[in-house]
Amino acid sequence: MAGAPPTCRNGLLGGAEVVRVLLADPLAHGEDFCAALAAGVPDLATWCWPDEPVNGSYDVLAAWQLPDAFPPLPDSLALVFCFGAGADHLLADPRIPSHVPIVRLIDGGQAAELADYVCHAAFAFLLDDQKYRIDQARGVWAPVFARRRTRAEARVAVLGLGPIGMTAATALAAAGFRVHAWSRTPRQVKGIETFSGLERLGDCVDGADVLVNLLPLAPETAGILAAPLFARLAPGAYLVSLGRGKHLDEAALREALDMGQIGCAFIDAFAEEPLPSTHWMWSHPRIRLTPHIGGLPTPEGAARSLAAAIDALQQGAPLPGLVRTAAPTPS
Ligand code: GLV
Repeated sequence: MAGAPPTCRNGLLGGAEVVRVLLADPLAHGEDFCAALAAGVPDLATWCWPDEPVNGSYDVLAAWQLPDAFPPLPDSLALVFCFGAGADHLLADPRIPSHVPIVRLIDGGQAAELADYVCHAAFAFLLDDQKYRIDQARGVWAPVFARRRTRAEARVAVLGLGPIGMTAATALAAAGFRVHAWSRTPRQVKGIETFSGLERLGDCVDGADVLVNLLPLAPETAGILAAPLFARLAPGAYLVSLGRGKHLDEAALREALDMGQIGCAFIDAFAEEPLPSTHWMWSHPRIRLTPHIGGLPTPEGAARSLAAAIDALQQGAPLPGLVRTAAPTPS
C-alpha cells in the first residue's frame, strides 16, 4: 500500500485526492489493520514509519506517542489520530502544532477487552484470590471458611465514565456487582449510582471493595489514586489501575498494601514504562502487574475509527473522538 503518489483536486485535505496517512504505531503496521483501513478509505496512501513519503508530506499521522527521533511534522498535516484511548502523550507534545486537531481512537473492542480485565479483577476479589496466591507461593494450606461477599454485596467504584469506563461499569453491573461510578461532569447510567465533581469523589469510593481507575490523565486527575482515597475504601479492597501511571501515588499504594488497607493492586500502566527491573512492584506479593496490555485496539475497530475521522475531515463534519480542536492557523 505504500508509495502511491498523491494527486490533487480541490478538497478539504489541502486539495489532495489521495489521503496520505503515516502510520507511526506498531499496532497499525499489521496486515489486518491496513486491509481494514484500505476498505474504509478509498484513495488512500499509507506509509508505516520509519518508511515515509519521499517528499516527507502527508495529511494524517496515526500514533500513540511520537518517538524522540521522529522527524519534524510536515506543513501538510491536517489531523493527528491517537492510536489509543488516552491522548495525553500527544496532547503534551510540543512538536504537534496547535492548529492541527487531535482525535482519539474509539474502539468498542478495546473497551470490551478492558471491561474483561476489570471483571477479572472484581471476580478475583470475590475469591480472595491474592491471599491464596500468596499462600501457594509459600506452600501454605490455610483456607478461610468465613462467608465471602456475594457479587450483589461487593461494591465496585469505577472512576471515569467515558466510552471505556461506561463499558466496564455496565459489564460489572450486568455481572451482578453493585456499581458506583464517578466522572468529572455529571452522567446518568441505568443501574449505576453516579457521582460527579471532585467534591463527590470520596462519596463514590466510600466503602468500595474494588476501585477501578479508567480516567484520562489530565492535570486534575494526576495523582488521584492516593492516600485520602485509599482511606475511604473497605479494608482489604482491590485496586485496578488501568489509566496512566501518573494517576497513582506509588508510595501511598505501597503503604496501603503493607498496612492491609489495599489487599491487592492490579496495575497495567506505570509512570515509567517499561517498568525498571529494580522497581519494588515487580516483587511485591500483593501486586499483579501486566505490561500495559489492557485493551489493545482491535485492528478492525482501530481502522474503522481512523476511517471515520478521515471521512469527517474530508466532509468538514464534526471530528469523532476530538480531544483537541484546531487553534486558528498562524498567519
Ligand atoms: C492505552 O493506554 C490507550 O491509550 O489506549
